[in-house]
Amino acid sequence: MPHFLDIHKTDPAELRGMLTQASAMKAARAGRSKGALDETMPLVGKMVALIFEKPSTRTRVSFDVGVRQMGGQTMVLSGNDMQLGHGETIADTARVLSRYVDLIMIRTFEETTLQEMADNATVPVINGLTNRTHPCQIMADILTIEEHRGPVAGKKVVWCGDGNNVCASFLHAAGQFGFDLVFTGPETLDPEAEFVEGARAKGVSIEIERDPERGVADADVVVADTWVSMHDSQTTKERRHNQLRPYQVNAALMARAKPDALFMHCLPAHRGEEVTSEVMDGPNSVIFDEAENRLHAQKAIMRWCLGV
Ligand code: CP
Ligand code: NVA
Repeated sequence: MPHFLDIHKTDPAELRGMLTQASAMKAARAGRSKGALDETMPLVGKMVALIFEKPSTRTRVSFDVGVRQMGGQTMVLSGNDMQLGHGETIADTARVLSRYVDLIMIRTFEETTLQEMADNATVPVINGLTNRTHPCQIMADILTIEEHRGPVAGKKVVWCGDGNNVCASFLHAAGQFGFDLVFTGPETLDPEAEFVEGARAKGVSIEIERDPERGVADADVVVADTWVSMHDSQTTKERRHNQLRPYQVNAALMARAKPDALFMHCLPAHRGEEVTSEVMDGPNSVIFDEAENRLHAQKAIMRWCLGV
């Protein structure tokens, strides 16, 4: 079953094919209105369930619009409103949903929930973010980097701050697409060794650098994300902020990167915390292209899952 669960679980040639298709579909829609149907309408007759156990703006809207542009239909479901949130097992939910829909996208907490959904569904399942990874985001990010700066292979991407779920998917992508990554952040918030070692095993350089200025030196891409993720306890917020403050991406830190270095952030951002408005709204920022590319990348991911 062609599930899209994580970037390192999908063959690099297949990932590349998705990005090529995403670019072509994006180009084919240039200048058309958002609600116009794609000419080929590959999802006609397909029903897609979008399940959210956490809040979302981009994932929710981009998946919904993407399905509709391709001629399919969606139902957006909140985990809390489903029996899933009231004791029905994930396995039973997966089996039931598979009788109604052709594709399931789920944003959830534990990775085991996603895996159990995939193991029991008889239709493809897409990871719309878990506590550990966010693969759809990074597919959009690679598309964005390549639109602005050409092939990502060999580039230096620097992650500043918390070694979180988005960072983990960047590490997966480093291994699959062949770029180097530097993590700069406090030791207590390092990415899991499994992600770091997994990328290194594929032959790319993954460095851990405590000094943010050294970390960002000569970067092609500088990336930030929230200091407190949706699954993090609010009681750790103050401690995290104190630990992460030196890693704020501001104009002084960006000045250490290459002059044309891109600034990226998956959003939502906390202006004045992990990044300043000056950087977010500055000439090197591609954050809204990133957000747009969620739509195009995910349309290609859905087509791959459905084989259409
Ligand atoms: N970047 C991202 O996944 O945003 P949402 O939480 O708004 O979906
Ligand atoms: N790391 C963030 C990403 C949000 C899109 C979170 O998990 O809350």
